[in-house]
Amino acid sequence: MEAFQVLLVVLLTAAARAQSFHRGKCPRPSVQQDFDVTKYMGTWYEIEKLPAAFERGTCNQATYSPLADGTVKVRNAELLSNGKRSTIEGVAKVKNASQPAILGVGFFKGVPDAPYWVLSTDYHSYSLVYSCTKYFLFHVDYAWILSRTRVLAEDVIGPLRDRLASAGVNANRLTVSNQTGCDRTAAKTNERPIIGKRPQRETRPSHADSLHFSAFHIFIFLSKGVLAQEVSSPKTNRTAYIAASYVKTLESAGARVVPVMINQTPQEYEALFASINGILYPGGSANILSSGYQRAAKIFYELALEANKRGDYFPVWGTCLGYEQLTVLTSGEDLLSLTNTSGVPLPLNFMDGAKSSRMFEGFPDELMEDLASEPLTANVHNWSVSLSTHKTNEQLNSFYKVLSTNTDGTTEFVSTVEAFDYPIYGTQWHPEKNAFEWRRPYVPHSPSAVRISFYAAQFFVNEARKNFHKFDSEEEEGKALIFNYSPVYAAPRSVFEQIYYF
Ligand SMILES: *[C@@H]1O[C@H](CO)[C@@H](O)[C@H](O)[C@H]1NC(C)=O
Ligand SMILES: *[C@@H]1O[C@H](CO)[C@@H](O)[C@H](O)[C@H]1NC(C)=O
Ligand SMILES: *[C@@H]1O[C@H](CO)[C@@H](O)[C@H](O)[C@H]1NC(C)=O
Ligand SMILES: *[C@@H]1O[C@H](CO)[C@@H](O)[C@H](O)[C@H]1NC(C)=O
Ligand SMILES: *[C@@H]1O[C@H](CO)[C@@H](O)[C@H](O)[C@H]1NC(C)=O
Repeated sequence: MEAFQVLLVVLLTAAARAQSFHRGKCPRPSVQQDFDVTKYMGTWYEIEKLPAAFERGTCNQATYSPLADGTVKVRNAELLSNGKRSTIEGVAKVKNASQPAILGVGFFKGVPDAPYWVLSTDYHSYSLVYSCTKYFLFHVDYAWILSRTRVLAEDVIGPLRDRLASAGVNANRLTVSNQTGCDRTAAKTNERPIIGKRPQRETRPSHADSLHFSAFHIFIFLSKGVLAQEVSSPKTNRTAYIAASYVKTLESAGARVVPVMINQTPQEYEALFASINGILYPGGSANILSSGYQRAAKIFYELALEANKRGDYFPVWGTCLGYEQLTVLTSGEDLLSLTNTSGVPLPLNFMDGAKSSRMFEGFPDELMEDLASEPLTANVHNWSVSLSTHKTNEQLNSFYKVLSTNTDGTTEFVSTVEAFDYPIYGTQWHPEKNAFEWRRPYVPHSPSAVRISFYAAQFFVNEARKNFHKFDSEEEEGKALIFNYSPVYAAPRSVFEQIYYF
């Protein structure tokens, strides 16, 4: 897709690229009937293109996301031979509403838009795009066969080549794009390293060691609640659980975790609220309209709103089901739509202003690039809040800023939010899985994927550091901490490695 950005350069080097120039006017192929730009949003990979010129990098891809004014943000990325990712952003718009499949794409101010004609697409697997511009007696053209995945079946590609040929374009000039070795750091490294440690004989800690330890302890005085939820088939002493990955992720950022039990009295929840510095609503499958999980989440949500209004900073984070729960608490209704996202890693389509959001501003630039280009966020949900639902629901739209979206090929859904006026955050994806869950192929483990877990955790724990709630006594704190429980290695069929049962 980099061809747009170099259109002018191509012209300057026309002599060397004579194959791009053809006598006469542009052909006018027919375009996709009833083109629906909404369904077209998301990431597309370049499978073949015309012409071969200007192959600077590999792994060319384009990500389209809707902008508030009805135009489309275009983000093209490729991998250069030095291993760096090169990206360029532009804006695409439909010029004439009665011809929605004919767009113009501009990357630079003052440079005319390049045409972008969608000749044929099924939205969820392939797209055929054509671009032709007339110069004096000649025209220069480009074409792309795009795919939702890095490979596209030959029996899909064939008819697309024929389609170009029948439009009068020389399809023999199509070249195959290189989509191998694309996950920058992943290709060269073992993503499932196992580190052995020889057991050591226990020695008594020296006096100096224990002094040092207790001094350090004071600095990290911080406890965070993680909400437990009901198990689907309760057994004796196992009525609620928390996946250990949530606990480990928070601990990795310097927090200590307190499990928040379900089915406590409002007074007990109020006392706990006054003792902890933030709360995380984990993913899972509890009922978000009525369950012990929902009841506790509602009480803490209302306490958090009240506290924050008083200037008592209290952060709340919802992951997956936890985020869905937040949307119910904010809007008062279930606004979820079915999406085909039950086990798929996706890159984030960042909205304008995401980079300067509270959540992402501390993420390094190159990690943001990776997040936007590589499938680094695990989606494990059948339900989502579609972007259009979010935008048309007054409560949600005025409460949360959408930081990223994703699409399942049909529905564009909200994938990351932060509240405008409260430290309340939601991700439809799972930051905690990348570093700590190994049982499903859709959980990414590349170095960038794992860094995302830790940057997300660090962000949230730093939010909790702004809160000064504490337990009445060290003894009460000791009784509440998760250290009183041991996680168990989960059954082979579980999606989790380790689970705390309560
Ligand atoms: C928009 O497209 C329609 C149908 O092709 C055409 O009749 C109309 O003239 C176009 N409008 C403009 C402003 O180009
Ligand atoms: C595609 O790119 C990868 C990595 O950049 C390289 O190792 C591979 O040889 C290339 N394949 C072809 C067919 O050029
Ligand atoms: C359940 O917990 C109680 C109290 O901790 C204990 O006495 C009992 O043995 C446990 N039951 C099972 C089946 O583990
Ligand atoms: C759902 O998405 C997967 C890829 O993630 C795809 O293989 C499958 O065909 C899709 N199912 C439907 C019903 O679209
Ligand atoms: C989504 O629904 C399918 C079919 O009911 C089920 O097998 C799968 O476990 C569900 N996925 C999630 C993440 O709930």
